[in-house]
Amino acid sequence: MRLLDACAGRPVDTTPVWLMRQAGRYLPEYRAVRERLSFIEMCRRPEVAAEVTLQPLRRFDLDGAIIFADILLPLEPMGIGFRFTAADGPVIDQPLRSGHDLARVRRVDAAAELAYVMETVRLVRRELDGRVPVIGFAGAPFTLASYVVEGGHSRTYAHVKAFMYHEPVAFGRLLELLADVVADYLAAQVAAGAQVLQVFDSWVGWLSPYDYELLVLPHVRALLDRVRRCGVPVIYFANGAGGMLHHVARAGADVVGLDWRVDLDRARQALGDVAVQGNLDPMVLLGPPAAIEERVADVLRRAGGRPGHVFNLGHGLVPETPPEHVAFLVDTVHRLGARVGASPGTKDARHE
Ligand code: CP3
Repeated sequence: MRLLDACAGRPVDTTPVWLMRQAGRYLPEYRAVRERLSFIEMCRRPEVAAEVTLQPLRRFDLDGAIIFADILLPLEPMGIGFRFTAADGPVIDQPLRSGHDLARVRRVDAAAELAYVMETVRLVRRELDGRVPVIGFAGAPFTLASYVVEGGHSRTYAHVKAFMYHEPVAFGRLLELLADVVADYLAAQVAAGAQVLQVFDSWVGWLSPYDYELLVLPHVRALLDRVRRCGVPVIYFANGAGGMLHHVARAGADVVGLDWRVDLDRARQALGDVAVQGNLDPMVLLGPPAAIEERVADVLRRAGGRPGHVFNLGHGLVPETPPEHVAFLVDTVHRLGARVGASPGTKDARHE
């Protein structure tokens, strides 16, 4: 399967592509399900989550299926309840604001508490029958901590940073706890059938390189160290980390996911010998096909036909995206990313 080959740095017949927020509100068939059920209910019902996972694969020639779930799901069994609001996205009503609040948090058995996610993985894996790999995922420690401490989205990350500076030891304990739960959660996804994992560090780009290296990177390393023992490729998406790729390079990922604010060729120089994923600005999909093609060509030119590139967006698809532009994107990546003389992509390599 070409996605697995590209993650391992092996040559492929054409650049593989999957998209962050592949399943979601830009698809009418998603909105139809969502009209009946809340987002959380959709996640908790494996047959619904599996169906929504597969919706984009019925429309587009994607090279991977990312499980429909959310990075916040492990928080609830840990004792950090949250809800989704239409206006503000996720909201945690009782955020943790100090080391004292850590007493409220439980280290849970992710495989048992989140059994519904594992069941979704099993259903999707069975349904796909080896056509493309199943991608499992989870949030990285700092990104999860930012929700837990801020209580939701933030423009400044003031609360989580204040916590980090006032109580670095307790902050470290919080990241360690989150990393422990996430490591178990990802291992359980692999046991259920996930063939690739992605760790989302969506808000790590708000840290200085100094604080990232000192206070966060050790926990990312510990997490990825454990997760890599599961034997599947691990993609680490470090959003906004273009100015600290020299640190990100030491996280221990098989593939580094890049956002659109960096040139892919320069990012590769900073990262050294590791595969990369990315990095089209998702807003390009709001433009016309000619504008999309021009920018896909730029990403592929910077990837230079070198093995070890997975095409993706630099962040998630937005609800305003026209589905026909997504179809055009995926086909354009495969057309422009085709390599003459490379070994044919083996979508039926079920043994992998
Ligand atoms: O990529 C996929 O298609 C798989 C599904 C997926 C979702 N969330 C579904 C979702 C994945 C991989 C995520 C990860 C996630 N969730 C991240 C990391 C990726 C990123 O975007 O940085 C983060 C930060 C979250 C937290 C979260 N969940 C937010 C901020 C929101 C609100 C989003 C918004 O645009 O308002 C969610 C809700 C959510 N997660 C939706 C979906 C499809 C929308 C739910 C709805 O239908 O209302």
